[in-house]
Amino acid sequence: MSNPVLETISERRSIRAYKKEQITQEQLDAILASALESPSARNRQPWHMTVVRNKSVVAEVNAEAKKILKLDREDIFYDAPTVVFISAEKGWQWSKLDAGILVQTMALAAQSLGLGSVILGLPAGAFQGPREGYFNELLKFPPNYEFAVAISIGVPDAAKEAHEQEPDKIKYVD
Ligand SMILES: Cc1cc2nc3c(=O)[nH]c(=O)nc-3n(C[C@H](O)[C@H](O)[C@H](O)COP(=O)(O)O)c2cc1C
Repeated sequence: MSNPVLETISERRSIRAYKKEQITQEQLDAILASALESPSARNRQPWHMTVVRNKSVVAEVNAEAKKILKLDREDIFYDAPTVVFISAEKGWQWSKLDAGILVQTMALAAQSLGLGSVILGLPAGAFQGPREGYFNELLKFPPNYEFAVAISIGVPDAAKEAHEQEPDKIKYVD
């Protein structure tokens, strides 16, 4: 069975190399608007998105996350032209799940526009050390919100195979 939505889901990959060019404002607006249409528990919408296109801000988060997590790799954001940081309301049991749904909506919206993305958990490191408050402020997280996940978005500069699927993750009780 196939349709445009199923094709988009099937074609999405985590893209870890991007062309230098920026995505257009129109593309970004479409991705952000799609994200806001995501479902959330009790329609609480316990999320906030901070768009960062400033390379030096991304570099600061990258350096801190790598320091705290003791990572060797060069750039946890893969030099993407746009990074969106998703923060989520503290103390609400569905916050992180809702943020996950939101970020997948963004990944699929990006894919549908011919863009690439990768969902990122590693930036969490920057919010786990003594400078958490500084980074919360730098990224304009609302009060009582904390880092949930990030997503790098750009024009893909690499192709990738689909990940291996595990059909035994499905069971029926008929
Ligand atoms: C919550 C979450 C966090 C992730 N964090 C990272 C990350 O920090 N760095 C990275 O390169 N990929 C990250 N990924 C991407 C996964 O590695 C990727 O989805 C997985 O390997 C399957 O590949 P695919 O997305 O191409 O199907 C993350 C994915 C999710 C859903």
